[in-house]
Amino acid sequence: MVAFSRFDARHYPTLAVREGYDAWAETYEATVLDLMDLRLLGRLRSVGWQNTRRALDLACGTGRGGAWLKAQGVAVIDGVDFTPAMLARAGERGIYDRLVEGDVAAVDAPGGAYDLVTMLLADEHLSELAPVYREAARLVPDGRFVLVGFHPWFLMSGVPTHFDRGPGDPVAIESHVHLFADHVRAAHAAGWRLAEMEEGVIDDDWVAAKPKWADRRDRPVSFAFVWARP
Ligand SMILES: C[S@@+](CC[C@H](N)C(=O)[O-])C[C@H]1O[C@@H](n2cnc3c(N)ncnc32)[C@H](O)[C@@H]1O
Repeated sequence: MVAFSRFDARHYPTLAVREGYDAWAETYEATVLDLMDLRLLGRLRSVGWQNTRRALDLACGTGRGGAWLKAQGVAVIDGVDFTPAMLARAGERGIYDRLVEGDVAAVDAPGGAYDLVTMLLADEHLSELAPVYREAARLVPDGRFVLVGFHPWFLMSGVPTHFDRGPGDPVAIESHVHLFADHVRAAHAAGWRLAEMEEGVIDDDWVAAKPKWADRRDRPVSFAFVWARP
């Protein structure tokens, strides 16, 4: 793991993670594009979404991922997040069976409670990956762990996870760069093996949504891992 500050090209004021999402919660959904994560989920072929009995959405935020899972036919979905303002919005969706305020590395649920665990767009906020991979293995010993993240290449090109706190007031949220080898090392130590991987690049859809990113065309912006335990 390398601190994002090593690569920072924007030098926005940086907020601690909970403080950042507390401030972003109100406008978060209007900022984050489904192209980043949900489009990648739709490309995955090794996850039987419809056969999933009980899923846990780690770092569920406002519930975008939970809504996607519900639309795929996942029957029961729980969520965990440590930012109350984000969780409150997830609650308003009425799709989660149970929402818990807590850390992704120590979930208040018995081992083996789930057959699918997801974590979307949160790994860059974890200083260490090993704890969440271990926790996912405890929670879903026989199923899949789907992790979708902001691509390390994008972070290393100097763009932090950020939002406008007000007009002309961009702020970043504390982030860390995890190379794919860091993920594989942490996942393998927890007994996971890679079942599938996808990367999302800046393409026409992205440039249509964010014309300023035209000069980043074809660069990778997000990734998806599907982990399984043999
Ligand atoms: C970019 S948002 C992603 C939310 C949602 N998964 C989505 O895709 O829209 C990151 C979320 O991770 C949560 N988060 C970050 N670190 C966390 C941790 N250690 N434990 C629990 N939640 C965490 C934040 O509170 C925030 O809601």
